[in-house]
Parts: sequence; structure tokens; C-alpha cells
Amino acid sequence: MVTKLTLQLLLTTLILTTTKTSASVFNNVTCTNTKTFSPNTTFHSNLKTLLSSLSSNVINDVRFFHTTSGKDSDKVYGLYMCRGDVPFALCRECVGFATLKIPSSCPSSKEAVIWYNECLLRYSYRFIFSKMETWPRYKIEIPMGDPGLLQSRGFYAGLRSVLNELPKEAAVSLSGFNKYAVKQENASVSVTLYGLAQCTPDLSAGDCRRCVDDAVEELPKACCGGSIGETVLFPSCFVRYETYPFYQHSGASASITTSVNGGRNIPTHVIAIIVVLVVILVAISCIGCCLLWIKSKKTRKASDRENLVLEFNNSESLEFDFATIEMATSMFSEDSKIGKGGYGQVYKGILPCGQEIAVKRLSKTSGQGAEEFKNEVMLIAKLQHRNLVRLIGFCLEEQEKILIYEYVPNKSLDHFLFDSKKQKQLTWPERYSIIKGIARGILYLHEDSRLKIIHRDIKPSNVLLDNNMIPKISDFGMARMVDIEQIQGYTNRVVGTYGYMSPEYAMHGQFSVKSDVFSFGVMVLEIISGKKNSCTFESCRIDDLLSYAWNQWKGESPFEMLDPIMQESYAPNEVEKCVQIGLLCVQENPDDRPTMGTIVSYLNNVSIDMPFPMEPAFFMHGRTRRNSAEHQSYSGHSTNHSFSSSVRPR
Ligand SMILES: *[C@@H]1O[C@H](CO)[C@@H](O)[C@H](O)[C@H]1NC(C)=O
Ligand SMILES: *[C@@H]1O[C@H](CO)[C@@H](O)[C@H](O)[C@H]1NC(C)=O
Ligand SMILES: *[C@@H]1O[C@H](CO)[C@@H](O)[C@H](O)[C@H]1NC(C)=O
Repeated sequence: MVTKLTLQLLLTTLILTTTKTSASVFNNVTCTNTKTFSPNTTFHSNLKTLLSSLSSNVINDVRFFHTTSGKDSDKVYGLYMCRGDVPFALCRECVGFATLKIPSSCPSSKEAVIWYNECLLRYSYRFIFSKMETWPRYKIEIPMGDPGLLQSRGFYAGLRSVLNELPKEAAVSLSGFNKYAVKQENASVSVTLYGLAQCTPDLSAGDCRRCVDDAVEELPKACCGGSIGETVLFPSCFVRYETYPFYQHSGASASITTSVNGGRNIPTHVIAIIVVLVVILVAISCIGCCLLWIKSKKTRKASDRENLVLEFNNSESLEFDFATIEMATSMFSEDSKIGKGGYGQVYKGILPCGQEIAVKRLSKTSGQGAEEFKNEVMLIAKLQHRNLVRLIGFCLEEQEKILIYEYVPNKSLDHFLFDSKKQKQLTWPERYSIIKGIARGILYLHEDSRLKIIHRDIKPSNVLLDNNMIPKISDFGMARMVDIEQIQGYTNRVVGTYGYMSPEYAMHGQFSVKSDVFSFGVMVLEIISGKKNSCTFESCRIDDLLSYAWNQWKGESPFEMLDPIMQESYAPNEVEKCVQIGLLCVQENPDDRPTMGTIVSYLNNVSIDMPFPMEPAFFMHGRTRRNSAEHQSYSGHSTNHSFSSSVRPR
């Protein structure tokens, strides 16, 4: 079992190293073969202990860690360092891969070093800490793809300027704690150069500078090195430059770098005081962080997962390798399947770093190109709100399109709402706060985010609940990601669910923020009553939820609507308000429905005056029967518009 898993991990590592991936890009591993050890010796077991302790010690914000294992002649020294900008999750993943790959690549070597784009890891039989080492070395050159670049005269001047600054800045960067520097320089109007240098932080400033200087020496001197991107990797430091921003910008470290650099004339005792102050500050914040960490770990395990996801999200690392996803979901096994949505199967998975994810494997029918898909995913991933399920990334592989979401532990709202046992878990205060949460989530989609997203399939099964019963809307932006031409206000493919769809959308494929408002209204009435709106396209029964709610409202007995399990404990004014909001949302005419902004202010404000609802949609024309031919045209993928408009019940 264990060996099978290890094998699978190894396999994945191998695949990862051979395919293009934005996470943990392998560069080289070098075994120093002069000294070797035999299998099953003390040194071998010490080495294993060392590697597992390195990979298990990737703690948040610790980008460098060194340790030893064993004693005397069998002692092993080891360290890892992650690039200064990579998020914690990626650091952890990278070190994890490195500790798996290094023993298989160097099975009997007493000394080895492995480099990825995101991290380096090394071990040795001798003391290697705080020593500057520039052998073995590895160099990567990206050949000139665009000859026009060479002609841009600024290229080498810009490169010089970047490279000259890096050694100084790496040596002093972040007040000497981090030994990491990035620099960017315009080479011409169209070309910007990005450089990065980093030393293991156990080096002295002088050693770091010599190490980076040495690495820069390896790069082209003046003109015509013929490369537009290069990386030089040493055991103690590395340098890289590219014509695109390959590192993540961190405003903080850049500004600190320059301020320290610009202050070279400051007397040493002032620097000493500043350093002492910084050390104290760091110590205090460390203690604070630890306390917070312990506290949050105790109270809510989910919170550090959220942080993790947060870090994961702000980068180009949105693209996941297919092998990683296969491994996370045990090759999309039946056991890991957790649901089926309108767009494909959903699986639960666990990433190498331990993070739980939900993997949505889109059915293979969507015709959109890879680039468009990527662009849309990038946009949707930027939407971040407490009441939205977070999109972490995506994966593209030939015919496969996969979306990766944060994993929300509880099931969807319908599992609670329409289940006679679980219903009891939802008290009125909880239902009220779920309604408010959903409203805020939709408001964010409609108005507050930079993209205006119309969800188009708001319903209880698209609202997930986390451990604290906080609602999180899922499946938003699907239309954008899957079918690009649907961004306009008309569609030839109705994606909603009957019973929640507004009349104008169901009949004419016409959608707007007000169609979401309609669906929200139906859902609010369902949350209040615990009853499912039984309206199907063919038959809108006269006693369906909307007409029932309307009749209760008209008869001034809105509390009759309440789910019987809550008859005892509820706030009458809140219930009444919610029934009224629900009815306002399901008005036939979109203009009569409030916006989400208005709804949120109704929910938050006790004294606000709300208009009185009229008879809801479908009810007025409840007797309108649609024939089955029409039904078929709606449930298929295309709708005949001219035909639809002739039957519009107005
Ligand atoms: C690592 O680099 C060395 C020196 O360039 C080369 O000989 C070796 O084949 C490389 N190893 C791998 C696994 O790429
Ligand atoms: C090392 O130990 C394993 C099991 O512990 C054994 O299968 C293997 O044959 C041993 N190898 C050597 C060279 O002794
Ligand atoms: C580089 O160019 C961009 C736009 O062309 C400009 O906004 C930026 O200030 C320039 N940066 C430097 C360092 O000159």
C-alpha cells in the first residue's frame, strides 16, 4: 500500500518534470559521486530521516530550513530553500517533490543538490551550513525566440543594469534576513527585463554578494549571448532573468530593498539600532503569529486552509498539472466522486501539500478554445468573497478541462433543507443568516466585483455550507468559462433549473441580474418553508410554492409558511420581511423586482420601508399550459426564439 503510493508519487514526480507545468518546475539534480554509501547502513537511514524531516518542516513563511540527522561519521547535513516569492503551498509542494526525487536520482551518493524553479534542496555528509559554495552548477538558457529583441539596443544595457544591482541588493535585501532581491528594468518600449537573485540566508552578506557576482559572471558579458532568459544555479545562490515577470511582485520587499540600498551613508550605530528594533518587531510579531496560529488551529481548522488557498491564488500558479490532479483524486476514482453538476463530475481531492480540493471535470462537449478558457478562469479566480466558493485553479490536458475549487466540508443547502432529519439542524437564526450570506454573495457577483457576473443557476444545490454553516455560492461564472459567446444578454442555451428560472429567461433565453433575483426569491421562500418549489415546466401546479406564499401573504398569515420545525422559535419581523422580499423577487416584470443591493439593505435595516408585492410570476398566468414540443425545445441546447416569443404569455 505504502510502496504503491510512493511509486505513484515518484511516477507523478517524473511526469511533472517532463511536462510543462507552472508548479514545481524541475531543473537539475547533481550527485557528487566521490563518496558513496551502501544500502541499509546507518548513513542511509539517517539520510531518510533527514529528508522526511526537511519535507515535514515546511512551515508557513519558513522559506529556508536546515537540519542534521545522526551523529559522528554517519551524520547527514541538509537544507532546503524556497524562492523568496513563492507562496507557502508551492514551497511545500516543491520541497515534497525534491525529497522524493533526490534519493531516486542519487541512490548512493553521500552528497547531492537538486534545483527546481521554486526551491533547492541539498544534503551532504559534511558540514555545509553558512558556507558559500558555487559547485556544482547548472545553467539554463532560453534561446532568442524573437530576433527583434537583439536589435532593441536597450536590451543589454537594461540587462547590465539589472544584473549589476542584484548582487548588492540580494546581499542586503530585507534588512539582511532574506537574501532575496528582484529588479525590473525597461530595456525598450516593448521589452521589460525581470531579474532575481537569492542566496541561502545562512550566508554572510559578503559571501552572498560574492556568490551572486560569480553567478552573474556566468551570464552574457556584453552583446550577443543570444539568450532572452537565463538561470544560473549554485548550491548557495541562484540568479535568473527573463523578459516576463516570472516572479511574483511583492511591493513590500522591493521597497525595503531600495530603502536599505539607498541608505548606505547612514552611520553604523543607526543601522545597528534599526536592526535591533526590526529583530524585536519580528520576534513580537512571530510570538503574536504563533499565538494566533495556535488559537485559530484550536477554534477552526478550516481557517489555515483558507489562508493557504489565499496564498495559492495570487499567482500564475493557477494552472495545475494533470498528473497532480490525477494523483489528488486517485485517478478520478469512484470513491473520490462527490457529485455531479450541470457541467460535469465533481471529485474530492488532496494536493501533495495536504490541501483538500474539489475537482470539477467538465464534460467534453464545451467547444471553447484553451486560451479563452484560461483567460476566463483567470478572471473568475479573482472573484473572492466570503460567500463564494473559491476557484483555485484549472488544468488543461488535450480534451480535458478541469476546474479546481476550495473544498467546502458540509453538503449543499438542499441536503439540509429538504431532508426531514437534517432540517432540524437549521434553526431560524441560521436560516436568516444563510439568506443574508447568499444575498451578499450575489450582490458581490452583480455589482461589487469588477466583472459583472450573472449566475443564472441560483438554487439550493448551488449553495454549499462550510463548517460554520456559512453559505458559499458555487458554480458562478460557468457560462463565461464554458461558453464564451454567452456573455451577452441573450443565450441559445438555457442553463438554469426549472422552478428557479425567471419567466423571461425560461421562455426567451433573456437573462439579466433580475433573473438571478428571481431565483434568489424562490430560494428564500424555500428556506423559509422547507418546501421545494414543485413547479416544473410542463405543469405549474396551482398550489406551488409561489402561489402558496402569495396566498398566505394576501391572507395576512405569512407565518403559516414557516417550516413546522421552527414554529416555536423565530423572529416574526424577520420572517415577515423575508416572505415579502421573496415575493418581491418573483414578480413577473423584471423591473418590479428589487436589485440585490436593495435586498441587502432591506435585510440589514430594520426600519426601511419595502414596497408591497403584487401577484408573483407564473401565478397570474398559472393556467398557461405549454405544450410538450415547446418543452423539448427548451430542454435541448438551442431555443427557437421566434417560436418562443409567439407564446409569451403577455
Ligand atoms: C544536470 O546537469 C549536469 C551538468 O550540466 C548534466 O550532466 C546532467 O545530465 C543534468 N542532470 C539532469 C537530470 O538533468
Ligand atoms: C535492505 O533491507 C531490505 C529490507 O529491510 C532488504 O529487502 C534488502 O535486501 C536489504 N538490502 C541489502 C543490500 O542488504
Ligand atoms: C517602464 O515602462 C512603463 C510603461 O512603458 C512605465 O510605466 C514605467 O514607469 C517604466 N519603468 C521604468 C523603471 O522606467
